[in-house]
Formats: sequence, structure tokens, C-alpha cells
Amino acid sequence: MHNQEIFLKAIAHTSIRLFIKREDLIHPFISGNKYRKLKYNLIEAQKQEHDKMLTFGGAFSNHIAATAYAGFEAGLQTIGVIRGEELEGEIDNNPTLSFAKKHGMQFKFVSRSNYRNKNSEEFLKSLKAEWGDFYLVPEGGTNALAVKGCEEILGEEDTDFDYVCTSVGTGGTISGLVNCSQLRQQVLGFPALKGDFLQDEIRKFVRKDNWELVSDYHFGGYAKINKELIDFINGFKKETGIPLDPVYTGKMMFGIIEMIKNGYFKEETRILAIHTGGLQGILGMNQRLKQKNLPLIQ
Ligand SMILES: Cc1ncc(COP(=O)(O)O)c(C=O)c1O
Repeated sequence: MHNQEIFLKAIAHTSIRLFIKREDLIHPFISGNKYRKLKYNLIEAQKQEHDKMLTFGGAFSNHIAATAYAGFEAGLQTIGVIRGEELEGEIDNNPTLSFAKKHGMQFKFVSRSNYRNKNSEEFLKSLKAEWGDFYLVPEGGTNALAVKGCEEILGEEDTDFDYVCTSVGTGGTISGLVNCSQLRQQVLGFPALKGDFLQDEIRKFVRKDNWELVSDYHFGGYAKINKELIDFINGFKKETGIPLDPVYTGKMMFGIIEMIKNGYFKEETRILAIHTGGLQGILGMNQRLKQKNLPLIQ
């Protein structure tokens, strides 16, 4: 996808040049890294002649919305195992789940403690007993085929950047980026959650070590946000015309701008940030912000 230069007053006094790769525009409903992560998984599911695909996610998961749509487009039945039993009666009030339902996804709602067993053989066996055979896509969509898809994010036009930045959830996207980066480039990952386990996850997939995680910008944890972040996201959109999501790309971009302001990067550094999509999550986040009397994401 094309790169767009970011001009922001906050960094205009520096010689650093910041660009964003608009992977959010890759598909209207399977945007950003979801498209990359699902591409080879869909091909594999069809090759193995599966007619069903099962995956896991939370109430506002970008991955759940994208998988539902991808299945709908490819003619595969999708099943979403959703964290939180209380959501069963809430589908129509939840923008992510109602979108997924509209595109044919069937759900199994499980308690938070049961959800933790999502990788256990026993749990998968019970799911197969209930739903029949299926192609399994892990939570967040991350597996070796997802990493392979994310290795297609960077192209020839990106070889001159000094840094490539991405948000990190389960680690698949950064792994693909590391694998397709130049050795002289540094890949920075901004975890959207507190997670010491991430380093080990990423090490399973990467073939180089030109990467590091910047763990200072998770804002207290997964999907946690505050007024400062909301103001940043709204201000960024006003100045650049580019929407960011509150769970992933907003935190990454906030971190990059802070690091530029704090002098982390040398003069004339060229930075490429990946817009990994996730904009469908704004609706659900705004529902929660309204309840908390916080300003909404524009
Ligand atoms: C919008 C968005 N950006 C970034 C990520 C992080 O990607 P990964 O889980 O591959 O680290 C996710 C989660 O999958 C996401 O939904």
C-alpha cells in the first residue's frame, strides 16, 4: 500500500521525516494486518477442503470482525469463540459482534476462565465435538501463515527507511515485518498491552534480530485509554486527515511522536509507521467512552 508523509506541528521543528503505510485502506472490512494475516490461512483452509473456520476473540476484536467478513467473502462458515458469557444477550448492541453476525459468523460465548484454555487440546476437542471439523485460526490470527502474509507488507519502496514501526498485540505482524525488513533497518514494536510473553512469541517467528519492543505506551493495558490519548487521536486526525484506532495504532503513533520529541531518533531519520487498521473498534470504544463521560473519538 502507499506511504503518506505525516506533517504535524509537534515535530515540524525536527529534520525527522515520518511516513505512514496506509494498510488500513487495503480492504473496506478486512483492513490492515488482518488482510495480511488471513490471506494464506484462507488459502490453506480451502486447500484442506474445510468448509468451516473457527477462531477466538474479545467483544470488540478486529480479528473477529475481519474473519467473519473474510469467511463470508470466501464462502466459508465462521465460528467465533468469544471471551465473556455475559455478551450472549448483547450481540445486537455490540457493533463488532453484530457486524460479524450479519456476515454469517456463529458464536460460542465462554467464561473468561474457560477462554484461558483456548490453546488446550481438550478444549479444541470439545469444540470439534460441538461444531464438527474446522480450520483453526488462533486468537489474533497469528500463526506461521499469518507471519508469511505480513512478510508482504514491506516492498521495494520501503528499503530507504531507517525505522519501521508497528503496534503489537500477539506478535505476528512485527514478526512478518522483521522478516521482510532490510538488515540495516530497525523494527520497533509498540505493545498495546502489558505482556512480557511477547518477546518469546516473536522469537518463534523471526529470522533476524533487528527489532525491539517499546513498552512505554500501552496506557495501562489492553484497550485501556485516557483523555490524553483520545485528544491525541482526534488532534492527529484533524491535522493529517488520518484516523487512528484507540487500541493499537493510536498508541503506536502517540509513542512515535513522543520519542521524536524526546530526541530518541537522530537528525534526518526516516521513519515508516504501519497503519494496521482496526478502525472498526472505534464504535465500540465510543460506547464505553460515553458511559464514562469521556470525550468521543471523532
Ligand atoms: C489494528 C491492529 N493493529 C495491530 C495489531 C497487532 O497485531 P499482532 O497481533 O499481529 O501483533 C492488531 C491485532 O491483531 C490490530 O487489530
